[in-house]
Amino acid sequence: MTLSRLSIHHFRNIDASDLTFSPGFNFLVGPNGSGKTSVLEAIYYLGHGRSFRTHLISRLIQHQENAFILHARTQVCERSLPFGIQRNRDGTGEVKIGNDTGQKLVQLAQILPIQLITPEGFDLLIGGPKYRRAFIDWGVFHVEPQFYSVWSRVKRLTKQRNALMKTARSYNELRHWDAELAPLADQIDLWRKKYIENLTEIASSICDAFLPEYEIRFSYSRGWDKDTDYAQLLANNFLRDQQLGYTHSGPHKSDLRLRIGNTPVEDVLSRGQLKLMVCALRLAQGQQLSEEKGKQCIYLIDDFASELDCQRRAILATQLKITGAQVFVSAISADHIAEICDEKSKMFHVENGKITPV
Ligand SMILES: Nc1ncnc2c1ncn2[C@@H]1O[C@H](COP(=O)(O)OP(=O)(O)OP(=O)(O)O)[C@@H](O)[C@H]1O
Ligand SMILES: [Mg+2]
Repeated sequence: MTLSRLSIHHFRNIDASDLTFSPGFNFLVGPNGSGKTSVLEAIYYLGHGRSFRTHLISRLIQHQENAFILHARTQVCERSLPFGIQRNRDGTGEVKIGNDTGQKLVQLAQILPIQLITPEGFDLLIGGPKYRRAFIDWGVFHVEPQFYSVWSRVKRLTKQRNALMKTARSYNELRHWDAELAPLADQIDLWRKKYIENLTEIASSICDAFLPEYEIRFSYSRGWDKDTDYAQLLANNFLRDQQLGYTHSGPHKSDLRLRIGNTPVEDVLSRGQLKLMVCALRLAQGQQLSEEKGKQCIYLIDDFASELDCQRRAILATQLKITGAQVFVSAISADHIAEICDEKSKMFHVENGKITPV
């Protein structure tokens, strides 16, 4: 799956731009503040229905404009699919896939699996569990067709349960909700566990290429005691949960821990090594998706050179090339990416929101 075209209107500092891409590497080179990350953000928006920099639509719409519009065309083998999204300042908008308007963002996400690597991406390793849950769930979402609806239901039921708990006089008032919640939570746990088991093997071998001096251990925790049935746990913890005012344990608390020996990776690795670790994990997810679903994801690498020395940049470039995927790379200087360019690559110069093929 590749993005063959992208047109951007009124997005950040990009007024109007119509771009055709290489199915291999695409480089965005330009000075600070020129619009490189904004191009990556536009692509990311198409695949996630949100930005990685802000939750506010108004920040994304070009100053003095009322809406942004993104149109793209994907190429899967010989088939081409147009799709697009418009977002207005008043919060309304439209998603279009093929000739159908009124499509949902989640359908866009299914069409366009995207992996993003940014200089701020350390959150995956040093941030709270929510970042690692988002990481696991990206993968499960793309391999388990029912995941999105089941997980949405679990989140809704947990919210309703928390509200009800505030006034409940006994556990009996929650029993009915928990009878529905518990099997769905078990299902989420099963999917996540299976996904991590499959991913670990691929991730370990990619980590070996990036950080051969370390042996990384992966351990998934489901968010509640591994020997206790979830329905039973909810009943047992009722009084404690009521005091806390929320459901303490459950799939909303699961995590993926990464360790070297018994020490968390973030306490052992340097910043450059942490970046390589994040790259390894994201590449592993892409490879897993392509092995399991035959679907290739797109990689967005913002500020390619940050934190990495010349040798590590070469390792990252080699690993990206091995994927055979389409890659978008931003860099301040063409020197940083000179060694990755090949005859299939396409280079764009970015300046003041204007993107020009070189
Ligand atoms: N809503 C907006 N409307 C117009 N311009 C905006 C808007 N939001 C941000 N900008 C401007 O867009 C420019 C491009 O930002 P972007 O983050 O894409 O730059 P960049 O090329 O990635 O820079 P760097 O190399 O420093 O990371 C910035 O100068 C920023 O001030
Ligand atoms: Mg940038």
